[in-house]
Amino acid sequence: MFKYIGSKRVFIPTLGTLAQQSEAKSAVDLFTGTTRVAQEFKRQGLVTTACDIATYSHVLAQTYVATDSAEINEDELRTALQKLNELPGDPGYFTETFCQRSRFFQPKNGARIDAIRNQIETEYKESQLYPLLLTSLMEAADRVDSTIGVQMAYLKQWAPRSYNDLEMRMPVLTPGKGQAVLGDAMQVIDELPPTELLYLDPPYNQHRYYTNYHIWETLVRWDEPEVYGVACKRVDAKEAETKSVFNYKRTMKDAFFDLLTRAKAGLVVISYNNESWISAAQMRDHLLEIGCESVVSLGFEHTRYVGAKTGIHSPTGQKVGSVSHTKNMEWVFVAGSRAQVSATVRGFEENVLREFSG
Ligand SMILES: C[S@@+](CC[C@H](N)C(=O)[O-])C[C@H]1O[C@@H](n2cnc3c(N)ncnc32)[C@H](O)[C@@H]1O
Repeated sequence: MFKYIGSKRVFIPTLGTLAQQSEAKSAVDLFTGTTRVAQEFKRQGLVTTACDIATYSHVLAQTYVATDSAEINEDELRTALQKLNELPGDPGYFTETFCQRSRFFQPKNGARIDAIRNQIETEYKESQLYPLLLTSLMEAADRVDSTIGVQMAYLKQWAPRSYNDLEMRMPVLTPGKGQAVLGDAMQVIDELPPTELLYLDPPYNQHRYYTNYHIWETLVRWDEPEVYGVACKRVDAKEAETKSVFNYKRTMKDAFFDLLTRAKAGLVVISYNNESWISAAQMRDHLLEIGCESVVSLGFEHTRYVGAKTGIHSPTGQKVGSVSHTKNMEWVFVAGSRAQVSATVRGFEENVLREFSG
């Protein structure tokens, strides 16, 4: 699974335990990103819906959440991957844009990405393997990129892993039912049926996923967009439709509270960041205001994303600053009926920061 800012990788077991103890049968992960959390809910037996505004995330959700591993012919998938792995390189848009105009990938891998992506489009567009093959290609590309985990910049010197040969591997699928929804959370929230557990992990700052992961967006859409700047970002990144209300201090809090008010959920679990534009007290007050009987906040210390450790880099990958701290306190709010909240947080007494009742 690829490098992603704000990914809840270290929290998966915790979130899985919370979901299991909640005894919810259905879940929505509204800002699913890598889909890691949604996958865990699915493994815990919840019928899970994974939503995101990013097209690449939707492909991951189609693969890891909507696809039931029991319904996939593994031999057919293995054969398709083998054939794609054997294709000779055929340099095109991807190589020119991301290996020559910029240096995100070595040209030998760029040429293979071009060839494989074209073949997926011509041979598998109507196949149920389509999202699985795209996922495998994104993950293969991620393993040989030359970045620190975001695509706003590439490294000045090639990353050692970028010399490796691109290799498509089998995605590890999960059995069970699920759904993938592509769209803006502000609209999707009204279209979704009621859910027993709603998990929310929105962007809490100005860092846009659309520009930080523009290469995945282009690789999935395969639309050869015009690009700009050293990082060759998509020109449509400048348009309003690609911007999220959650990336602006002016709009974030009201949008998020509006979303919570409109949500049709029994239990709400929110991954909360202490550097957020919403204070913990505001979050608690709003959850109580919208009728949650009980709100518990749990605290976990964790390490900040990789960029924080390696410092701040210019668009050409030069180190231009350092980050003062690498530890972050991550909070999880659990809100709902008194009985369900207390069952959900059982065993996490040491992590309980505050408990409130309406
Ligand atoms: C903090 S990340 C989620 C990380 C995820 N929990 C994981 O473990 O990978 C936030 C996600 O919200 C998505 N996003 C941003 N604005 C959105 C919007 N308006 N509607 C839906 N998704 C949005 C981004 O594309 C990003 O994937």
